[in-house]
Amino acid sequence: MQSPLKNAKFKPVEKELKQLEENCLKDLEKIQDLTNLKELEVKYLGRKGSLTNILRGVKDLPKEKKPLIGKLSNQVKVALENAFENTRNQLEAIELEAQLSKEFFDTTIPGQAREIGHIHPLSQVQEEVERIFNQMGFAIMDGPEVESEYYNFEGLNIPADHPARDMQDTFFIEGKNHKDHGRMVLRTHTSPVQVRTMEKFGAPLRVIVPGRVFRYEATDASHDATFYQVEGLLIDENISLSHLKGVMAEFLTRLFGKPVKVRFRPGYFPFVEPGLELDFSCLICESKGCRVCKQTGWVEFMGAGMVHENVLKSGGIDPKKYQGYAFGFGLTRLVMMRYGIGDIRLLSNGDIRFVKQF
Ligand code: FA5
Repeated sequence: MQSPLKNAKFKPVEKELKQLEENCLKDLEKIQDLTNLKELEVKYLGRKGSLTNILRGVKDLPKEKKPLIGKLSNQVKVALENAFENTRNQLEAIELEAQLSKEFFDTTIPGQAREIGHIHPLSQVQEEVERIFNQMGFAIMDGPEVESEYYNFEGLNIPADHPARDMQDTFFIEGKNHKDHGRMVLRTHTSPVQVRTMEKFGAPLRVIVPGRVFRYEATDASHDATFYQVEGLLIDENISLSHLKGVMAEFLTRLFGKPVKVRFRPGYFPFVEPGLELDFSCLICESKGCRVCKQTGWVEFMGAGMVHENVLKSGGIDPKKYQGYAFGFGLTRLVMMRYGIGDIRLLSNGDIRFVKQF
């Protein structure tokens, strides 16, 4: 495009700029509404507007003229922008007033507060659990909720004819069989992720797996058919149950913010040997005995044990070189303990009045 300043010696740019400013201000005085204002703004200040056109030509001016014209064009630009802004404010005020005189608008009516959601208590506690284990060097893992019988049972040393299959009532997915791994089930615990993680990462290993699990169970105040567990798995050389005791006492102490003791009782799970149940000291009565701890001073918390060598083998890990411990606790029950919730079903029935309390 040919520069409009090519013939600048006949029409000095200073004059042209001043003329443009004057014309624009005169046009502005005549403007009555916002639509016309926008059009006028485009005409003078838009990308193809008259002022932009002049500014574009500054580069073709003689060197000594450039600073002066540059400064002047900028002054004109700012002055016009301000003038447009003022006119816009005036016109908006006039339009608003006109609208208000037509319809009644009560400015004293309070506005509608927008509801802001918040994190569900289950997720809050899950995040806290993840943070604490993360600080202790555990990675957070995930696994499928629709799982094969192999990972849910066989890989965990629970063969098809093993009576322990009766320990966890299972939902089977109709007409869905895995090509090598048997029928498909809704996982009954988070333990299948043990073998999956061993296969994927090998040893050493330090993970927790929070997740949703499903059991074909009648519900009552402390049992649901869908609930959350947290699995833990640590595999390394020279690992013993005392490591598990130390980690769990530290985890619970950090979670509850006061010193917590743990104890082991014998327990049976086919995928650990030896197997055990872990209890922690009752924080409600400081172990003196109350309704929550059934007068024992201890609260039942989770199943655990040393990973069975058949499970290590399922995961492709050499049991002669590595040992490890595994544990699994009910996250939903932990949330109930944490907030003193008397009925597990409240956590999933979608009653907003309940959830709002946390
Ligand atoms: C297991 O599920 C084992 N996989 C735990 C384990 C992992 C043991 C690793 C050893 C090594 P159990 O069936 O006991 O174990 O369930 C673990 C926890 O889930 C229980 O302590 C309880 O807190 C919770 N739980 C079990 N059934 C229900 C239910 N119906 N509703 C809510 N929570 C439940």
